[in-house]
Amino acid sequence: MEIKIEKGRAERYPCELLLLFSFESPERLEGPIQNVDLEWKGFISTLMKQGDFKGELFECRLYYTHGVFPAKRVVLMGLGKRGEFDLEKWRGAASKAGQFIRNSGIKQFAFPIKKFDGLSEEELSESFVIGLLLGVYQFNEFKTLEREKIKEIGELILLGENNEEMKWIGDGLKTGQIISEAVTMARDLVNGPSNQVTPTVLAERARQIAKDHSMEIQVLEVDQAEAMGMGAFVAVAKGSQEPGKFIVLEYNKGKGLDTIALIGKGITFDSGGISIKPSENMDRMKDDMSGAAAVLATLQAASKLQFPFHLVGLMPATENLPSGKAYKPGDILKTLSGQTVEVISTDAEGRLILSDALTYSLRYQPKAIVDLATLTGACVIALGDNAIGLFGNDESLLKQIEEASVKTGERVWRMPLWDEYFEYLKSDVADFRNVGTRAAGAIIGGIFLSKFVEKIPWVHLDIAGPASIEKEKPYIPRGGTGVGVRLLLQLLRDWKN
Ligand code: BES
Ligand code: ZN
Ligand code: ZN
Repeated sequence: MEIKIEKGRAERYPCELLLLFSFESPERLEGPIQNVDLEWKGFISTLMKQGDFKGELFECRLYYTHGVFPAKRVVLMGLGKRGEFDLEKWRGAASKAGQFIRNSGIKQFAFPIKKFDGLSEEELSESFVIGLLLGVYQFNEFKTLEREKIKEIGELILLGENNEEMKWIGDGLKTGQIISEAVTMARDLVNGPSNQVTPTVLAERARQIAKDHSMEIQVLEVDQAEAMGMGAFVAVAKGSQEPGKFIVLEYNKGKGLDTIALIGKGITFDSGGISIKPSENMDRMKDDMSGAAAVLATLQAASKLQFPFHLVGLMPATENLPSGKAYKPGDILKTLSGQTVEVISTDAEGRLILSDALTYSLRYQPKAIVDLATLTGACVIALGDNAIGLFGNDESLLKQIEEASVKTGERVWRMPLWDEYFEYLKSDVADFRNVGTRAAGAIIGGIFLSKFVEKIPWVHLDIAGPASIEKEKPYIPRGGTGVGVRLLLQLLRDWKN
């Protein structure tokens, strides 16, 4: 979709469709919708008085203007009760309007942006663009039939009334586009099947991003990882014919900036390995690289937004498959940290590859480590697809994540990492086992990871629930969601030491 900014007033602007928002039963109309109402001889206020359009959240109506003013059509979108309004609803409204306009086959629309309720034109513009672009997202790459029936909006015009407004709208648009593009890339990688999105392909994408944004990249092959002592990553990788890749992508390397390490689980397909999963819903396990996709996308956007950090993205990428070369229950692995792990289940592979990545990240002496992983089914049982499980060892970092979560609507929910839980991971033959009992599955995953971060402030985000969803949300269609990208970007934008 092409998005441009023009100087103009809603009631004077010629376009296929004009989009207008209203709160529910407002005392009076304000801003662009009021100006349009006056030009339209009170049409909108009459609708509202009669109860034909109330402005309830996501209530949506299309009207023809019959040439009373230059726009051919008007879509009214409800924002719900003023007292309950926030930018999350705004993003949802932008998405619902976009989906309605697209599904109606309309190719162009205009939207006037004017500040209200303490929200600036810049914020409103950024959030509108994010809600809209993420809401109209479709994954059509592999559809070959009836492609002509795929509907897309061609053009959006954001309207400002003067140069100053246009500048703020433009700044918000730019940021919104960069963020949406990153989330879209993450979604495409998650939705892409494992026969297309292999570890090699992830590494190629990372290489391309490094090239386009002058970042540093290093891709370790499995034999190099083995020589370095990454016994856990290597154990998982060796069961597959697809070569595993340990991807290290660095933005702003060697500039003396604070380092933050972002680590993403990159299992491009998780069959469970020798501890094989039931076949029902196993297709979903193509999304087991959602953490790596989020890290890759975050680095891309961080560089476009010119964030002043040294970011290290670590993406251990491999399939988890059974074969004659696969690792087995009972095996004892030596991790990069030197600690040993008794494998009880080969399906708890995420924590193994992450343990080596966590240890690897320590060499950068980062100010903080954040890992994202579709780590446990138990987290899905606990929180469903509505929240990320949040774990960590540093109160200030945890709080910053929670603040970013409120701003982005990417919900997190705190889980404990009390010492007592470590009991479950005690092993007779090694330093620890890779699984506990069925109890507290998501926490045990977090506890396992905590053994590899030493004293560095660290947060673990279990995104197993929200990484891909069955039922759409206001601006998140079914399938891969790109969860975590907006959360991480917000964390970095608001970073406090
Ligand atoms: N990738 C899965 C976790 C998962 C499950 C993500 C469902 C998304 C939806 C992970 O590797 C896994 O299999 N975890 C096991 C751990 C268990 C063996 C301790 C699980 O959750 O069953
Ligand atoms: Zn698994
Ligand atoms: Zn997994």
